[in-house]
Amino acid sequence: MSNVLVTGGAGFIGSHMCLALLESCHDVIVIDNLSNSCLEPLKRVEKLAQKSLIFIECDIRNDQKLRQIFKDHSIDAVIHFAGLKAVGESQRFPLSYFEHNIAGSISLFKAMEQANVFNIVFSSSATVYGENNRSPYHENMPANTPYNNYAFTKLMTEQMLEKLALADQRWSIALLRYFNPIGAHQSGQIGEDPRGKPYNLIPHLTQVAIGKREKLSIYGNDYNTPDGTCVRDYIHVVDLAAAHLHALDNRLKTNGCRTWNIGTGQGHSVLEIKETFEKVNRLDIPFEYAPRRVGDLPAYFADNERAMRELKWQPQFQLEDMLKDSWNWQRQNPMGFK
Ligand code: NAD
Ligand code: UD1
Repeated sequence: MSNVLVTGGAGFIGSHMCLALLESCHDVIVIDNLSNSCLEPLKRVEKLAQKSLIFIECDIRNDQKLRQIFKDHSIDAVIHFAGLKAVGESQRFPLSYFEHNIAGSISLFKAMEQANVFNIVFSSSATVYGENNRSPYHENMPANTPYNNYAFTKLMTEQMLEKLALADQRWSIALLRYFNPIGAHQSGQIGEDPRGKPYNLIPHLTQVAIGKREKLSIYGNDYNTPDGTCVRDYIHVVDLAAAHLHALDNRLKTNGCRTWNIGTGQGHSVLEIKETFEKVNRLDIPFEYAPRRVGDLPAYFADNERAMRELKWQPQFQLEDMLKDSWNWQRQNPMGFK
């Protein structure tokens, strides 16, 4: 049992992480500036776990407040989710992405070092593999050509952490490269609640299903893939949270920096997602084919052998489960957390 600080813990993945930590008997301190979330998911997490956590409203760029938090609480490890994640926005407002994702991470690492806390699990993304690698993506492939500013911030943070581990052997760092996290907790109490028009596929799909949007636009049906639509590796958010628990456990025993892909290793096309969603939830989703979205790659999926072998983690959920759980969340919460 450890005392874990979760940055960005009120967000989509962070809230599922907090629940998994509480259920595994860890104590949890969340810091979040609530820029893309609210307190309601954390209240629901406490109810589901029948345990409380500590919430502190704090921006990770606030050095002083961060230092105080590390002074006031005896923290064993950090799981670092806080940051901005919209690719298109990162192209329009690069400085904002550099500030939150890079400068914010530096503030966090400085506060950790000062408090002698050296265990961290960092949320990275498969987007760091860029466009020059061929799937399945393996952790040893070169990740050096980020093709958007969001990917750049993830790669920079990964590289900073690698260098920290080289400079000081007390650091113990897990870099988790997520593929496409979807789904929701089986209770339907917590899930993904994007602000404004959703950018990602699944919230778009569930908002069409609930009647909030008229139809799904499938971006491109002329890719060189089996049905012409893009292929991705979708991973259940509950499996993703479990991977963090395994990574935390692994890192509390070993020093250094290690990277793991967190995906199922299975690619699914956009059309397949739509059709599976319709089948498992007995719904019809109106859709149209729209032009390709700028910046999309045709297909990628994970080689997840390293995570399965070294972390002794295995994804438990199939695509059908993910799409049932996404709909269960949206159906029970048509307005999200409002
Ligand atoms: P999210 O937006 O739901 O959660 C991020 C949380 O961080 C939010 O609660 C937000 O309020 C908070 N936050 C943002 N900037 C902050 C700051 N400066 N200080 C304090 N809190 C701040 O996003 P998510 O989907 O849960 O993603 C979590 C992490 O995983 C992010 O780092 C994201 O880049 C990474 N990731 C997400 C995906 C995905 O598809 N969801 C894929 C790969 C990697
Ligand atoms: C994107 C980012 C990735 C980020 C992730 C989570 C890129 C290249 N990748 O992944 O870095 O970690 O979001 O924020 O931007 N689609 C539709 N219609 C829609 C929405 C999406 O057809 O309304 C298609 C997309 O073209 C894509 C697939 O669905 O082929 C998945 O899209 P999305 O959910 O946005 O995730 P990625 O683009 O894979």
